[in-house]
Amino acid sequence: MDDRIGLLGFGAYVPERCMNNQEWTQYVDTTDEWITTRTGIKRRRIAADDETTVDLAAAAAEVALADAGMAVQDVDEIIVATDTPEVYTPDTAAFLQDRLGARRVPAFDLGGSGCAGFLLGLDLARARVQQRDRRILVVGVELISRLMNWHDRNICVLFGDGAGAVVVGRAADAVEIVAATAGTDGSKADILWLEAGGSRVPFSREVAASGAHRKLVMKGREVFREAVHHMAAASRQVLEDAGLGIEDVALVVPHQANLRIIQAVGGALGIAAERVFINVHEYGNTGSASVPLALWEARQMGRIAPGDLVLLTAFGAGFHWSAVLLQF
Ligand SMILES: CC(C)(COP(=O)(O)OP(=O)(O)OC[C@H]1O[C@@H](n2cnc3c(N)ncnc32)[C@H](O)[C@@H]1OP(=O)(O)O)[C@@H](O)C(=O)NCCC(=O)NCCS
Repeated sequence: MDDRIGLLGFGAYVPERCMNNQEWTQYVDTTDEWITTRTGIKRRRIAADDETTVDLAAAAAEVALADAGMAVQDVDEIIVATDTPEVYTPDTAAFLQDRLGARRVPAFDLGGSGCAGFLLGLDLARARVQQRDRRILVVGVELISRLMNWHDRNICVLFGDGAGAVVVGRAADAVEIVAATAGTDGSKADILWLEAGGSRVPFSREVAASGAHRKLVMKGREVFREAVHHMAAASRQVLEDAGLGIEDVALVVPHQANLRIIQAVGGALGIAAERVFINVHEYGNTGSASVPLALWEARQMGRIAPGDLVLLTAFGAGFHWSAVLLQF
């Protein structure tokens, strides 16, 4: 019996439509120069009108299952991390189970964890495999373009749509999840939140008329500071837990929110720039999809070799943060 618990397959999907910075000038008072210098983002993918969250999730999941050499009938559990679900209730995981034609296995969402959702799902999946041998599909998916305000320049230029997926299980050749850490600071929820639509400010005609249901509030500079601090601290913690140092890490794959945040995290960790994976220029911030999409692309590009130690870290609304160490 093997005792490596980890990733058995990787997948990702991004919608076909690519929107560059220049195109945003039709909607808001902005420039390619502002977006590029402040965020590093050059373009992002936007879902087609007939695509929904479950379409993106299913496409990424199918790639991950094929990569793992598994049939959908082999899936024992489904976890979906998203803040932009298919409908308000039930969760996207239920739709995904049906769409994939999976058995009637447990399926649930981690909703509202912002961009940290996927890594929380990975940690949870690892614990559940430890508890009871099973193969768990973990998906991070976001269709942000459908739900955000296209006329709020503080927000709209930052995000993009996409999905990433992995299968977590037990196998000799699994990419081992060596260690994981996570944390939450709920006292700062109002620095990055969408207040309307829940029990506090229920959805109503007035809310709809005011556009409050799409008003994601973000205090950019505070979010920036918190993101750098917590991603660096979580990374140090997970390395310490594993008895390893940053010099052991071959590649850091951080949440792709903003190039300056990524560079600041790399600087705080004291790791060379070429050992930090970046694709934010191509996709913008894809929320829960960001880390699995970056991981998938890093692997596709040959940036990860057998034996490499890879450090994943993410931060999102909540605030929630997490770091996970993988041994390829
Ligand atoms: C949002 C962010 C890019 C703004 O960068 P910044 O360097 O802090 O921006 P500044 O505060 O210097 O500038 C803000 C100004 O730019 C303006 N601005 C905002 N968006 C703009 C845009 N798309 N185009 C042009 N100007 C814009 C603002 O209106 C403001 O103008 P004002 O000073 O006249 O009010 C940055 O704070 C950030 O990346 N924060 C983290 C965001 C994030 O990653 N969130 C998700 C975390 S999971």
